[in-house]
Amino acid sequence: TKVALITGGYTGESEISYKSSAFVYSQIDKEKYDVYVIDITVADWTYTDDAGQKHTINREDFSLSIQGEQVKFDVAFIILHGTPGEDGRLQGYFDMIGVPYTSCGALTSALTMNKGYTKAIIQDIPNLNVAQSVLLFDVDRANGEDIVQQKLKLPLFVKPNAGGSSIGMNKVNAWSELGKALDEAYDAEGTGQQVLVEEFVSGREFSQGIYRDAQGLLQVLPATEVITTREFFDYIAKYTPGLTQEITPADLRPEQKEQADALVREIYIRLNCKGMVRVDFFIQKETEDFYFIEINTIPGQTAQSFIPQQVRASGRTETAFYGELIEAALL
Ligand code: DAL
Ligand code: MG
Repeated sequence: TKVALITGGYTGESEISYKSSAFVYSQIDKEKYDVYVIDITVADWTYTDDAGQKHTINREDFSLSIQGEQVKFDVAFIILHGTPGEDGRLQGYFDMIGVPYTSCGALTSALTMNKGYTKAIIQDIPNLNVAQSVLLFDVDRANGEDIVQQKLKLPLFVKPNAGGSSIGMNKVNAWSELGKALDEAYDAEGTGQQVLVEEFVSGREFSQGIYRDAQGLLQVLPATEVITTREFFDYIAKYTPGLTQEITPADLRPEQKEQADALVREIYIRLNCKGMVRVDFFIQKETEDFYFIEINTIPGQTAQSFIPQQVRASGRTETAFYGELIEAALL
């Protein structure tokens, strides 16, 4: 089986994508799969061979020409965070040329990249709450502060609506901080000029993976609890070892664990997901209600990332897990 392991991307998350794909590459069973790492950047789409020579992808059918021989892929393993690998663009392209891939389809990827639109669908799920929020568009830039002050209470989270890894995101504790936070979110690259402003939910934060196995069955991974020493789980907290305590499996009461598993399943089904996804949520401090934060359809795969932690905590190996994802894409 020839696997194109897709990495790179057009946003600030490409740095994470390279780490994620390097880890996935190190774990995939190379006896079983013939893996080519394809780097997709604004400039070009390339494969670098063992001798360090670059080969450009033929975009008509995503093939390579290496020493006169054509290499075609059986499956694309997409580990590209942000656009164009997480927002449905590559998924639509692969649909058009008939290459199966490991992630959610084009519509689900595009929808879930948009945090505000996703919340609109998620809020219909029973027993799942969403924080009060305002979605600001490009035209709201001049009076964004007024709109937010009229509708929401402090403290707030301000984020690019189609961002990732908390890039361009800020917590706002005083109204005087709002203008700068809005500017930063609007200016974050590659995010479509929409800003999501949400009320802060006080409670415990979790992240939980789910995927379809080689038989097509849904498998829920154990949840991770995130306890950070920083103001919130921002980019630095996410990627600097030691700043955040990550507890996998999370210490939840049996009925809470059952509820988390059921909700994560429900979200996966209602959003018509495929492959592995990761759901981030809070459990509110007093009411213990569940609050959806967002869903990540190309979740981080660095050695320290949540999904690999959860895979290990469940007694699986990453090698077996990534093999399942490839086989599920080929079903
Ligand atoms: N957006 C980052 C990579 C994540 O969700 O893990
Ligand atoms: Mg995210």
